[in-house]
Amino acid sequence: MTAPTTRRSLLPLLSFSEHLTNRSAATCRYRCGDQCSQPVPNTSANAYFGDVVAASVSRRAVLQGGAGAAVVTSLAWGTAENANAAPGGGRGRKNLAGFEPIAPTPAHVDELVVPEGYTWSPVVSWGDPVEPGAPKFDASHQTVEAQMKQAGYNADYLALRRGGAGNDAADKALIVFNNEYTNPEAMFPGFDGVLTAEQARIEMAAHGMTIVEVERRNSFSPWVYDRHGARNRRIHTWTEFAVDGPAAGHEALRTAADPTGTVVLGTLNNCAGGETPWGTSLSGEENFNQYFNATGADDGDGRLARYGITSGGRGWEQAEPRFLVAGEPNEVNRFGWIVEVDPDDPASTPVKHTALGRFKHEGGTVRLAADGRAVVYMGDDERFDYVYKFVSKDRYREGDRRHNMTLLSEGDLYVSRYTGDGLGDGEFDGSGQWLPLVEGGASTVPGMTVAEVLLWTRTAADQVDATKMDRPEDVEPNPHTGRVYAAMTNNTRRAPSQIDEANPRANNKFGHVIEMTEAGDDAAALTFGWRIVLIAGRPEDPGSWFDGFDKSLVSPISCPDNVAFDSQADHLWISTDGAPGTIGTCDGMFLLPTAGPEKGRVQQFLSVPAGAECCGPVVSWDDRSVLVCVQHPGEGGLPSSYPYLGDPVPRPGVAHVHRVQRGRGRAGR
Ligand code: FEO
Ligand code: CA
Ligand code: CA
Ligand code: CA
Repeated sequence: MTAPTTRRSLLPLLSFSEHLTNRSAATCRYRCGDQCSQPVPNTSANAYFGDVVAASVSRRAVLQGGAGAAVVTSLAWGTAENANAAPGGGRGRKNLAGFEPIAPTPAHVDELVVPEGYTWSPVVSWGDPVEPGAPKFDASHQTVEAQMKQAGYNADYLALRRGGAGNDAADKALIVFNNEYTNPEAMFPGFDGVLTAEQARIEMAAHGMTIVEVERRNSFSPWVYDRHGARNRRIHTWTEFAVDGPAAGHEALRTAADPTGTVVLGTLNNCAGGETPWGTSLSGEENFNQYFNATGADDGDGRLARYGITSGGRGWEQAEPRFLVAGEPNEVNRFGWIVEVDPDDPASTPVKHTALGRFKHEGGTVRLAADGRAVVYMGDDERFDYVYKFVSKDRYREGDRRHNMTLLSEGDLYVSRYTGDGLGDGEFDGSGQWLPLVEGGASTVPGMTVAEVLLWTRTAADQVDATKMDRPEDVEPNPHTGRVYAAMTNNTRRAPSQIDEANPRANNKFGHVIEMTEAGDDAAALTFGWRIVLIAGRPEDPGSWFDGFDKSLVSPISCPDNVAFDSQADHLWISTDGAPGTIGTCDGMFLLPTAGPEKGRVQQFLSVPAGAECCGPVVSWDDRSVLVCVQHPGEGGLPSSYPYLGDPVPRPGVAHVHRVQRGRGRAGR
């Protein structure tokens, strides 16, 4: 059991000014391979729909900050009084919708801040022993061998699966989380900025995924992880993955170590993900480019550049030559896939599914089509890249797990095009198309085979006039309504001449969220309707829009990233990644009602500590508690000792936020 030590009390809420607007160079380098300072990799000539833009010019004026100013009332956001004065707080209700919204937290505050009546505890954190034989965490003497058996770094995707091994007990569960990347400046005490080969290997061991069994006394008590759980597992950079689907074995996947092109060691930069109806987890390999150094490599076809693979890198090639592209040109092609893991079987070999295409996969989320085919929604998190979906060839069979685990091996791949303005005012409302890239087992892209479309999916999508989006992050269907919510986290490179209906703001610092409704409510449909449900930012910003709700009653929100749902059909939960550098507050988790009288009323539920992004959120099945990933606390040089006071390094991981049982003391710590 992991018992939290006493935390310092909440720091005084000071002004929102200190070193918040610029990330450090180290932050950008480790997080996404310095993506923001690189050229936009999509230089294709896809249109920005200027003709339709012209037709909806009056609406656009609102979004560019013109007429929209008129709808803004006087605001005093940022005070607890304001946030708590909002209607519908629902004091005394048991479920999460009854929480009192928290006030925005200044970005330097190194605390996990939760609403009145709630408290929190760490469930599992970087370095916690997970597999048999794992030593106790010791930040100053970390080893590769220890790290391979301890919880990995920077958690992003998180799943909570009810039940112990083989039963449905409400007080036992399994959690699965990704370990997206590492922050050497925060994980190695005294790090001097130059990675040693041994540190590179420790980083490799800290990437991947972590699976642990958890248990609790009752629905009011915290989840604690079981140090000896039978399904506990670490997946890291030397874990063997099978490659399946139409590109498996392709010559571009063959290396000296794997002449078959079907076996890969490791999964990298796993960001968001999703659970399948058959009980496995999907996970997206996102900014895989940053691990490869392309110095001296031949990029005659421009494919390395299209994927952002440059002469930079994290220095891993000094530990393993496969990360030097000039020496092993195909290793880089073996990353950038959706992976599927069976968390119930620690001995299982995870799979990289080539049928779902290769790009900077944010995540993958599943809904079954009307006829039982499995549909996977996916975003490519890069400025001006695309939203995709996969539709399986075969159909889901209830209870036949073995069959269902083959569904993602073969099917059709589509990329989206958005037209109309999506603002729900009856004129130019959003409509969209799923444009085929692979259909019926054949490529629809001139000059590219099926395997080539899947290996260089960005290049394929460039050829079909897909809509260039503002960094698509989580794309996830609401399990109650089937409506799909797509978070566009931000894109400050979008020029006024490049705005379109689905990306309506130039210099989009704060991001937006799109709701998509498939034709006939069928996930396999080839057309859809859409609307924008949130244009994020400070409420007083004329360019922000909260689905028409009174902006004097909402919480400020910036850079939507992950989305999640609870038992209520109209509840969309959003976690953010980028509030510190854009609106000067800690990132957090927010509720956005998508229907009813509260539609558009964004309420902040929690905030994560200094330097962290808020990821993975899961509302537990009883609606009484939340699990979140606190990713990269202290990033950018902000002091953090999350979650344990006195630790020499912050420890990213999974936290459980739950109600305080009546008579057991006050919330908070
Ligand atoms: Fe890892 Fe797109 O966030
Ligand atoms: Ca993300
Ligand atoms: Ca999600
Ligand atoms: Ca993000």
